[in-house]
Amino acid sequence: MKMQLAAAGLLCLLLANGTHAAAARSPGSRAISGLYDRHGASANAARVNALRQRTVQHDFSDESSEDKRIRRQRAEAIKSGFLYAWSGYKQYAYGADELDVVNKRPRTTRNGWGATLVDALDTLWILGLEDEFHEARNMVAKIDFHNDGGQLAKVFETNIRYVGGLLAAHELSGDRMFLQKAVELTDLLMPAFNTPLGLPWQMLNITTGVGSSESPGGSSTNLAEIGTFQMEFFRLSQLTRNATYHEAAQNVITTMLARNPLQAPGGNYTIPGMYPTDFDMLAGKFTSSAAYWGGGGDSFYEYLAKTWYLSDFMLHRNLDLWNESIQSLAKYGVATSTSGLLFPGFLDGSKFYPYADTFTNFIPGTLALASKLVGSDSYFSLAEDLLEAGYSVFGEMPTSLGAEAIRFVRKNVPTDYQLLSSTAQAQVDKYGFVLSRPYYMLRPELIESLFYMYRLTGKTIYADRAWAIWQGIQRNCRIANGYVGTADVSVDASDTGIHNIVDSTESFFYAETFLYLYLIFADQDTISLDDWVFTTEAHPLSRANAFDGTF
Ligand SMILES: *[C@@H]1O[C@H](CO)[C@@H](O)[C@H](O)[C@H]1NC(C)=O
Ligand SMILES: *[C@@H]1O[C@H](CO)[C@@H](O)[C@H](O)[C@H]1NC(C)=O
Ligand SMILES: *[C@@H]1O[C@H](CO)[C@@H](O)[C@H](O)[C@H]1NC(C)=O
Ligand SMILES: *[C@@H]1O[C@H](CO)[C@@H](O)[C@H](O)[C@H]1NC(C)=O
Repeated sequence: MKMQLAAAGLLCLLLANGTHAAAARSPGSRAISGLYDRHGASANAARVNALRQRTVQHDFSDESSEDKRIRRQRAEAIKSGFLYAWSGYKQYAYGADELDVVNKRPRTTRNGWGATLVDALDTLWILGLEDEFHEARNMVAKIDFHNDGGQLAKVFETNIRYVGGLLAAHELSGDRMFLQKAVELTDLLMPAFNTPLGLPWQMLNITTGVGSSESPGGSSTNLAEIGTFQMEFFRLSQLTRNATYHEAAQNVITTMLARNPLQAPGGNYTIPGMYPTDFDMLAGKFTSSAAYWGGGGDSFYEYLAKTWYLSDFMLHRNLDLWNESIQSLAKYGVATSTSGLLFPGFLDGSKFYPYADTFTNFIPGTLALASKLVGSDSYFSLAEDLLEAGYSVFGEMPTSLGAEAIRFVRKNVPTDYQLLSSTAQAQVDKYGFVLSRPYYMLRPELIESLFYMYRLTGKTIYADRAWAIWQGIQRNCRIANGYVGTADVSVDASDTGIHNIVDSTESFFYAETFLYLYLIFADQDTISLDDWVFTTEAHPLSRANAFDGTF
């Protein structure tokens, strides 16, 4: 899962101890081609047919028996870790949204429908925990989505965790109860899209169907929260043969294409494919000039490429927009640090800020997959470079765990360093970056990218790195009854004997972190990247139904 955060707030934080440098300029050219016609005509049949012949996964048939033995042993270790976490959840919070591990009690954070239960269904299935899966299935059958638990529903989260979880459970098991539940819940969410531009409200009163913004009385939202429905809704339209869902989700593409992308304030140029994250859905306008591939923007970009793949390469507009975005990311959105690593940053108009949150770690994985699909070596090498930088944030730490957010110092921009506090400078000297937010909250994004890179290249170094991270989680996050976050990744619990706890165990830990860890060590044809596409919450959706443009 990627997250959203107010870009304006983040910008203030950056400016407080920030630095400035001008980004290069580009003319505002736009070339979006090959529009998908929902009535079935593909403008580009030859291209689509060529793409359909392609496979992306590495051929693992020559794996040595020693590598295989170690890999399978590790898969079993991950599975034991999962069972440990699951038994805590079962004992103290079964059917609840989350387990409060420290206080051994349930926590209601997502309308009380059982976020962890639903989010983890596919993990249970893929790990081969059949009895657990069937027990969970019977709990899910009893969920009443009409009872909102006295909370407004967060539309984006409800889609990625619940709708995605139910869909994947249906895909894997073939049990139609899950599909019926997914339809029931999505139909309850549909009133959120009842807005002038057809983009969803952030929050929804499930009982009345009245939408609202997270800031009371406002109409603000962000790219990720309006642009992370296309995969789930596309698959739902396929499975129900009802185009309504897909069309609602695709509105965001139409809306963005009709608007200018990132523009420098007072300037006369744009950065194609990069959109400010903050959007007023009633006014139909961007409300800041900050564009970011981390929290607030992330899964909007992610879904451009993945929905294209899921649609059997039919949704050209999504790919073209992705292609445009990646070129701008490569040109304006990344910078080399003093340690020689290529990090993504944060753009505000013409300014680049050397700041990366851990959500940006999804980029190498999705980019590597898309590069293999379109056959682009330069995009693939960009993905490898970004992964080296992202991994350094984990690998440089004694915990092997990465901070929630870092700042880095650009090579050739001395002020990046000079303007830092002496404490921050000392961190740059030691690690190559500043730990802006030094905690680790069991998030999956870097592990996710290691998974893609391992499956696409067969290089065991990616698996070994994931194993090191798992060891770090074991040392620092495992406590009685489950796993929690750790407050400072630069201090390892095995050195101090103290667990510096962040009391948080979100459903994505079971749904994503464990799933990607397991899949890195499982036999490589388990959920092959040639047959499945993972949503932003790591829910695999099947590519088995060829799409001809109609539902
Ligand atoms: C939903 O709207 C109804 C009617 O206005 C109200 O009674 C209820 O409290 C609202 N639910 C939430 C969670 O705010
Ligand atoms: C398609 O789904 C929408 C949204 O749930 C619903 O209103 C409509 O009746 C459905 N159409 C058909 C033909 O089932
Ligand atoms: C607009 O762009 C043109 C061509 O790049 C440049 O010559 C001109 O100075 C720019 N004007 C402003 C106001 O930036
Ligand atoms: C991406 O855009 C570039 C530049 O316009 C173009 O050369 C390339 O063919 C595009 N790639 C795909 C897969 O559309």
